[in-house]
Amino acid sequence: MMLEVENLSVVFRDRRPPLTAVDGVSFQMGEGELLGLAGESGSGKSRTAHAILGLLPAAAEVSGGVRFQGRDLLTMSSVERRQVQGKDISIVFQEPMTSLNPTMRVGRQVEDALRVHTKMAAPERKTRALEAMELAGLPDPERVYRAWPHELSGGMRQRAMIASALVLRPRLLIADEPTTALDVTVQAKILDTLREINRKEGTAILLISHDLLVIRNLCTRVAVMKDGRIVESGPVDQVFQSPREDYTKLLIASRPTRKKLQGGGSHG
Ligand SMILES: Nc1ncnc2c1ncn2[C@@H]1O[C@H](COP(=O)(O)OP(=O)(O)O)[C@@H](O)[C@H]1O
Ligand SMILES: [Mg+2]
Repeated sequence: MMLEVENLSVVFRDRRPPLTAVDGVSFQMGEGELLGLAGESGSGKSRTAHAILGLLPAAAEVSGGVRFQGRDLLTMSSVERRQVQGKDISIVFQEPMTSLNPTMRVGRQVEDALRVHTKMAAPERKTRALEAMELAGLPDPERVYRAWPHELSGGMRQRAMIASALVLRPRLLIADEPTTALDVTVQAKILDTLREINRKEGTAILLISHDLLVIRNLCTRVAVMKDGRIVESGPVDQVFQSPREDYTKLLIASRPTRKKLQGGGSHG
């Protein structure tokens, strides 16, 4: 297994009483797999991802195991961990949270991880950035490379974020509500792009969404979270067609935009 999350818990000790954000979560992902993590807002999806990536604030106490390619990320040295987190595993956030730096050209931001993690020279960095931008579905990468963030639409900005997450060729991409801030037609196209990235590069994707239909659109398996725990998991079609938990049924039923999303098609 590429990723093995075992009995993972995240507790915020600075809260009175301490707040358990993630409560004994276990799941596995194989190379190239498309797994969805569903659940209502506040169910612990993002904090699970942050634990995998070492992005939790200091007040968060993590326990359990996170093994990536057989090595436990929670116990390895910080030097080793930096090699994995952000390089072999990267993340795309919901767009408004980490929208691009407005004072820096897009290309420079896409290249950023190459500057941090490699000794590549500038021309090579640019080549890699343009490849990642193309893979992320950005039309005319040369032009976008030179553009300022404000010159791009919301969807294009999110594609630039996807490009920066791909530039180090990670084996696992975590996409945390990557389309939530975007309108439905753009959402569907971004999901198509994630599917293409998986097909072409074999990148495994952990897609986090409160929206089960978004997950169904891309993933083969899904785990459903509630109150920090996984309450149900299985092949996506099975969970959709015969959900075991009332909570899952409610998540499926509370979807207003289903038709539009299923109709999504071309790139852009
Ligand atoms: N810094 C924090 N301090 C205290 N509680 C937090 C903090 N961050 C998140 N939480 C709590 O942890 C729970 C899970 O949060 P999160 O993983 O962000 O949920 P989701 O991504 O599913 O919406 C929520 O109850 C949230 O309020
Ligand atoms: Mg979240």
